[in-house]
Amino acid sequence: MITGKTKIIGIFGDPVEHTLSPIIHNEAFKYLGLDYCYVPFHVKKKDLKNAIIAIKALNIKGVNITVPHKEAVIQYLDEISDEAKYIGAVNTILNNEGILKGFNTDAQGFILSLKEESILIKEKNILILGAGGAAKAIVYGILKEGGKVYIYNRTLSKALEIKEKFANLGFIEVIPHIEQSINEKVDIIVNATSLGLKKDDPLPINPAFLLSKHIYYDIVYPETLLMNEAKKIGCKVVGGIGMLLWQAVEAFKIWTEVEPPVDVIKKTLNKVLTKY
Ligand code: ATR
Repeated sequence: MITGKTKIIGIFGDPVEHTLSPIIHNEAFKYLGLDYCYVPFHVKKKDLKNAIIAIKALNIKGVNITVPHKEAVIQYLDEISDEAKYIGAVNTILNNEGILKGFNTDAQGFILSLKEESILIKEKNILILGAGGAAKAIVYGILKEGGKVYIYNRTLSKALEIKEKFANLGFIEVIPHIEQSINEKVDIIVNATSLGLKKDDPLPINPAFLLSKHIYYDIVYPETLLMNEAKKIGCKVVGGIGMLLWQAVEAFKIWTEVEPPVDVIKKTLNKVLTKY
């Protein structure tokens, strides 16, 4: 029940209609009896600054930041965690008595989702598609775990920037064009673009590039066309629900300082996903 004391948590994104984050967090608040409520806000690029100012004005306790705001939001915050600063992207904001602090829980979310699937990253060759806020967190996470990164992005300059940013953490090479020769080399392919969020989006890569030995990981959830194609080819396929869950667990702890009930959340997510 929403009371006069209920603390509000939100998510700012464009699009935001697809998000399952409200279900995750509201389920956890209800289970733990915490007086919080999580709501979606459809925030366009041009309104991001005003929306961030509104967090203070409306005394919103915290927000998640999603596509396409994870990088642009940094300039409007009072403090940034060391990790988010290093990654250059924020997906979680805490309003600590009027001081807005940005965090990045995507890197941890990605790594924990792979661990849950018993997929080892160390020494693996991993092709990352995309060079936005989510891709930066994923590249950072992979390099910290000892994986080797190949990165391709429509806008080459952004991939080159990521290489320059993270080269001191480990092996990272930019792929200017997706060519067949690279597919023999890589073990895991990650769609870290936003392609697949909208029904008429093109595929992030031609399915002919995929081999049955590949693990295909898509950060978009619950299912994408390329995930279906990858399954047909015989790839092991991992969708974005795991990363969604584990980044949410870390964000929940930042806002409430309480451990969320992961098994309860998983059950609810499974129930919701069967209706998709
Ligand atoms: P997020 O915060 O989720 O990472 P983002 O920072 O807006 O979102 O990044 C979106 C990513 O998807 C970028 O890599 C973008 O490529 P560009 O850097 O060239 O813009 C990629 N992307 C989005 N639409 C695309 C499209 N139609 N074709 C290819 N890549 C696309």
